Amino acid sequence: MGIPQPAFYMFKCEQSAPPGMPKPSCVTAQTQDLFQYLAQTIMKEGIMGTVQPIRTSCMNRCSVGPIMLVEPGHIMYAGLTKEKIDRIITEHIIGGHVVEEFVIDSEMWDKPITPADMKKQMGR
Ligand code: FES
Repeated sequence: MGIPQPAFYMFKCEQSAPPGMPKPSCVTAQTQDLFQYLAQTIMKEGIMGTVQPIRTSCMNRCSVGPIMLVEPGHIMYAGLTKEKIDRIITEHIIGGHVVEEFVIDSEMWDKPITPADMKKQMGR
């Protein structure tokens, strides 16, 4: 038997904009420990390995940050807090039900365009 794949990847944006930048940021003094909290919670639950937390750079949804993407499923959570992380781990990752009330607005996260369709739109 081979090494099992993770069941979930949790991509936490770790971008921080310098003070005075017009762009909001996913990492501020108030939110800088969210990744650590996420990783600790996964460890505490004993599910590290089958759930893989990953630090990422900007995913272009800064205005509703801190954001976190869960794969599989393309589920993007917005306005992340420690309390939301607790519920996402319990209800989505362990329980199997997306926490709809924390999911980013569809205006900000519409259905993807396939690469093949994008090539067609570009006339290539
Ligand atoms: S800084 Fe996190 S989505 Fe842009």
